[in-house]
Amino acid sequence: MITVVYPGSFDPCTNGHLAVIKRAASLFDKVVVGVLTNSSKTPAFTVEERIELLKIATEDLKNVEIAAFSGLLVDFMKKIDSKIIIKGIRAVSDFEYEFQMALTNRTLCDELETLFLHTSKEYMFLSSSIVKEIAKYGGNLNGLVPEKLIPIINRRFENA
Ligand code: PNS
Repeated sequence: MITVVYPGSFDPCTNGHLAVIKRAASLFDKVVVGVLTNSSKTPAFTVEERIELLKIATEDLKNVEIAAFSGLLVDFMKKIDSKIIIKGIRAVSDFEYEFQMALTNRTLCDELETLFLHTSKEYMFLSSSIVKEIAKYGGNLNGLVPEKLIPIINRRFENA
């Protein structure tokens, strides 16, 4: 049984994230989506809210679990007993940072592999920051985030 971990901030989960989760779930026995709780960025959504949004987005995917983690990813990997980190790559610009993280994680634990899944082409431009920017100004989130999340995300920015 192969369990992989897809780590990130997911502030909030986008259709780009969901596409990577679905593809990983079709390739491996189990996908644990690891939501970082102690990011240096100030999130728009609390970790509990980000987890809830991911749970709603993945409710039909039986081999996907959502879990919070803090501290180093390598320690979370040990806790989950997984050796494979999944990352999504949107463009060449993502690669340098992702490659640096992959090599750092490999240096900290030489049993770990990072597998990069290229993003689906329709979501190449998409990021959580773009979703927040659109929501902040009352724009249309259709097609950018899972449909069920739209009212929840919009509510957060209604009076912001
Ligand atoms: O969605 P993000 O913000 O790009 O995700 C970044 C994340 C959570 C994958 C990365 O910041 C991370 O793994 N943080 C945990 C701390 C850690 O292990 N740092 C060393 C590896 S760079």
